[in-house]
Parts: sequence; structure tokens; C-alpha cells
Amino acid sequence: MPAFTASSPGKAILFGEHAVVYGQPAIAVPIRQVQARAILTPSPRSQPGAIRIQAPAIGLDADLQSLPADHPLAMCIRLVLTHLNLRDAPACKVRITSTIPLAAGLGSGAAVSVALIRVFSAYLGKPFPPKLVSELAYQVEKLYHGTPSGIDNSVVTYARPVYFVRGQPIEMLQSPAPFTLVIGDTGIASPTAEAVADVRLAWQSDPEHYETLFNEIGALVREARFALEKGQIERCGALMDLNHTLLRKMGISSQELDRLVECARQAGALGAKLSGGGRGGNMIALATSESADHIRARLAAAGASRTIVSRVEEQK
Ligand code: MEV
Repeated sequence: MPAFTASSPGKAILFGEHAVVYGQPAIAVPIRQVQARAILTPSPRSQPGAIRIQAPAIGLDADLQSLPADHPLAMCIRLVLTHLNLRDAPACKVRITSTIPLAAGLGSGAAVSVALIRVFSAYLGKPFPPKLVSELAYQVEKLYHGTPSGIDNSVVTYARPVYFVRGQPIEMLQSPAPFTLVIGDTGIASPTAEAVADVRLAWQSDPEHYETLFNEIGALVREARFALEKGQIERCGALMDLNHTLLRKMGISSQELDRLVECARQAGALGAKLSGGGRGGNMIALATSESADHIRARLAAAGASRTIVSRVEEQK
């Protein structure tokens, strides 16, 4: 029998991370240059229920049955089985690979879940629609992030730019003017769950200050949506700078992120900010197609461990 494959892109948050956990809007885009992929090969000679999961990047090669209930990869498969009212599935081997850096704010956990849920539901003859894939991936996100907003699973499932408000139907975004993002990695792993938990503690100890910041970010994201939809890319750059200032006030930037953000601005970016959970991980810079390569080179020279140039175009 042939193998089944499914994949999912990474993502970058353009505006609104952290505040989105508290009900404010956020904007995110897929990053297709990095991908998570799941390849499933049926094992017709093995006993039903013998499901082998291999994820070389995390040193995993194990039977589903041996993995605990809260293991994120096992949970993806069990959620698919539960949804289909199945106790087990015909034997198979699933191999997960990903080029999305771990704990770097590019949605690696959500993308792996989406690829795995897709490949497994297709194998069982019931490929799940995007809404269901995203809902199940959200259940798994709760393991990674504690209190996730749901934006990561949404943007990587639909693989389209999204305007997202927690608990509301997802809206697709279109910008008439294509734009280019340059992504720079500090090389410092920073699990989103920890940054989200720290912001929660800080908010609990000073709710007034944090709610003011969340509200300011919310207003900025609404303005950014308007600017994007009108193709006002320079305005978006200015709003990114402002968003970064507010994230610094929230205490989730770092010297390394600030340095790369400043470097991108000096190199001609229209705006730059940290992206995702913060502390480490990635920053993004808004560029024109002419300035992107120069900004990328300057980020690499300034010590970015990896750079990606990604063009965001209108979807037909
Ligand atoms: C992570 O990509 C974005 C955060 O806002 C967390 C979340 O929305 O779940 C930091």
C-alpha cells in the first residue's frame, strides 16, 4: 500500500502576540519556507493497533501504546481515533519530520499536530476538514502552551494570513500589496508556554498596567488590519515598531531580540518586532522586495543563527 503524507507550514505573528491570549485581535501569516511533515506507511503484516511513531528530531521511536496520555504526538492520534469512535487502527508506522525550529515562535508544535492529524484521518479514510483539524490541534496546543489563544493552530491549518480573535470565527486577510518578511532567529530556544505563563503572573500582579498594554496592542492590531487591507505597507512597518515597544514593556523581549530588531531597522526595514512567545526565538522585519536580501545579510552578520525571507502575496 502506498504511503500517506501530509504537511503544514510554520507561521509568524505579525501583530498582537500575548495580548491575543486576553481576547485582543492578532494577525498571523503562514511561513511556507519551513514545514512539518508526517509520512504514514501501512504495516499490513502487523497486528491491528500496532502503531509506531518515529520523530527523529526528538529521538522518539516508540509504539503508541507505550506513550503516556499527555504525549503530544500520541494525543493527536488518540484524538483522531476518539473522534471516529475507534478503539484502534490498522497497523502502521508514522514518521514526523520538521524544518521548523523548535521553541522559536514559528509554530512548530501546532504544525506537527496538524500534519499528524491530517495524515492519520486520511489513512482511516476520513480526511478531516480544516475546522476539525484546527480544533483537535488546539486540544494538543493546550499541552504545549497551557493557555493558548488558538491562533497558531488556526494559521497553520488554513495556511492563509488570518485575523484572529479568541473564540470567534477565524477571518482570512487579503492585502492588495504583496510584502516581504525577513525572519531572524536569535538561536535561543524559548518555549512559548513559559513566556505565556510569565505574562500571566505579571498580569495577575499588576492587572491595570498589563490591561492597558493589551488594549493598546488591540487598537494597534485593528489599525494594522486596515492598513494591510488598503495596501499601506509603510504604515504596517511603523505599527510593527510600536508593537515591539509594547512587547518590551510587557517584559518579553530580550537583548538579543532588541539587537536584531534594531539591526533590521538600520538596514532599511520598514519596521521590525519580535514574533511569537518572545524572550528568544525569532524576530521579523517588514521589507520591500529590494531591501530583503540586504536586511537578511545584515541580520546574519549580526549573529542571527538562521534567516528566512518570505513573501506574503494576495491569495487567489
Ligand atoms: C504564540 O505564537 C503566540 C502567543 O500569543 C501565545 C498564543 O496566542 O497562544 C504568545
